[in-house]
Amino acid sequence: MNKTWWKEAVIYQIYPRSFMDSNGDGIGDLKGITSRLDYLKYLGIDVIWLSPVYKSPNDDNGYDISDYQAIMDEFGTMEDFDEMLAAAHERGIRIVMDLVVNHTSDEHKWFMESRKSKDNPYRDYYIWREGKDAQTPPNNWGAWFGGSAWQYDEQAGMYYLHLFSKKQPDLNWDNPQVRKEVFDMMTWWCDKGIDGFRMDVISLISKTKEMPDGEINGLYGDFAPYCIHGPNVHTYLQEMNEKVLSKYDIMTVGETAGVTAELAKQYAGEDTHELNMVFQFEHVEGPGSGKYGKWTDQQIPLIKLKKIMSHWQTELHGKAWNSLFWDNHDQPRAVSNFGNDQPQYREASAKMLATCLHMQQGTPYVYQGEELGMTNYPFQSPEDFRDIESINAYKEWCTDGRVSHEDFWPCIIFKSRDNARTPVQWDDSDQAGFTTGTPWIAVNPNYKEINAKAETADPNSVFHYYKKLIALRKENPIMVYGSYELLLEDSEELFVYTRTLENEKLLVVCSFCDHETAFTIPEEFVGTSCLISNMENGYDKAEMTLKPYEAFVLIKK
Ligand code: GLC
Ligand code: CA
Repeated sequence: MNKTWWKEAVIYQIYPRSFMDSNGDGIGDLKGITSRLDYLKYLGIDVIWLSPVYKSPNDDNGYDISDYQAIMDEFGTMEDFDEMLAAAHERGIRIVMDLVVNHTSDEHKWFMESRKSKDNPYRDYYIWREGKDAQTPPNNWGAWFGGSAWQYDEQAGMYYLHLFSKKQPDLNWDNPQVRKEVFDMMTWWCDKGIDGFRMDVISLISKTKEMPDGEINGLYGDFAPYCIHGPNVHTYLQEMNEKVLSKYDIMTVGETAGVTAELAKQYAGEDTHELNMVFQFEHVEGPGSGKYGKWTDQQIPLIKLKKIMSHWQTELHGKAWNSLFWDNHDQPRAVSNFGNDQPQYREASAKMLATCLHMQQGTPYVYQGEELGMTNYPFQSPEDFRDIESINAYKEWCTDGRVSHEDFWPCIIFKSRDNARTPVQWDDSDQAGFTTGTPWIAVNPNYKEINAKAETADPNSVFHYYKKLIALRKENPIMVYGSYELLLEDSEELFVYTRTLENEKLLVVCSFCDHETAFTIPEEFVGTSCLISNMENGYDKAEMTLKPYEAFVLIKK
């Protein structure tokens, strides 16, 4: 297996709107990020993945881009960007940009031209179709954020495809001119000195030529078979690799909705010349997996979680590279979704989850605030939502009367993306030190207990535990390169595995339950040393009792 810096790195995701506000307008910005780089340096991360900072009307918080080579007004200027990049590089921190090129904003120049007329040079930049008739869209596909995936455009006199909101028209990747524009833009950013790309919904860029009705699932037809892993997706990624990526020492991670471990070997194979790694979603579950679409109030059962993660671990080993994450800006908070956010268990379970993830093979991603054990937000009413997906879903499921508020509410508040988007809790002052003004989305009321200031000062905090895990990775190549084996696959309480590299071996033991559990340390590990643990406990005898959410790692040399 090739050794590379991005396999050894730990990545920290910043959602700029909610990270740090420097000017009191309630919105996080680039200067705010620059002011917190020392904190990230202290945590020990190597790379920042920056969610979109480009010019955008913010229908989907920057994932609707109207100019790829300009900075969003609210976030600052290109000068602020250059300053931030230089300041990060001075600290040895790389910056990976979000690349959102499945779609643009409908306010992008290309789209405004495209809709003007059939012979406009930009017409074919997007996907236009005639309706079945004057009132009926070309097919029955539903958009990810609700409603039809087709929007009739008065000016164009035709429908355009949008897999997300109607302000996010899909680009037509079959047009070589579109690919050239995208590759030129990427080259421009690489020449500026950025260190890679996280590619938004990149598995959706190639659509089938025929666009038949999809299988009805809820109110609309499913576009997935016609748009996910479409006919040319690998050809286009290889072309991107040849024309842009291969020319720079950068890293790439594809957000690949619908990906399986088998497909990941193509997207992110050691020698397939596409991407370095992909994000898969099997363990965080997606559309159709919950009670109502993606909406559910249930955690994934541990046996299922272990099965999914272990499959990825063993399938990709030596062939492709994993990325490891519990949460991001589209997911609930890790500790709430996979651990236990009740005050008596929050810290232990946050540390346990970190252990479980960082000891696996792959590049770990830490989402802002995860290192503090930040929790889901106690939403009280639909008015609390800011996210287009949550707002539209509430309307489609509840306001329009398909399910009752009582049934739906626990599900939407458990899974809402806004859980991840409340401001980072920096200290116990007003608005958690995020802003001196009124934040664009409410601060979680638990900021007095959970905040960076308190946790950096407390050596037993979740923060210091992450810091230690990140440091251990630098000293123990086995964490990066060792092979993986799952033990106790039928246990509903424990996630136990080993890693092996040459004559070293790690035993990783994580309790996912809120009560004590008996555990027998395998003989070969009895008397070995403990690399990290989230409890005071002894590991020198085979028979032991694990405390709720206990995690420890033994190393045999
Ligand atoms: C990705 C992003 C998400 C966004 C969507 C549309 O899934 O992570 O935040 O809403 O793509 O761009
Ligand atoms: Ca601001």
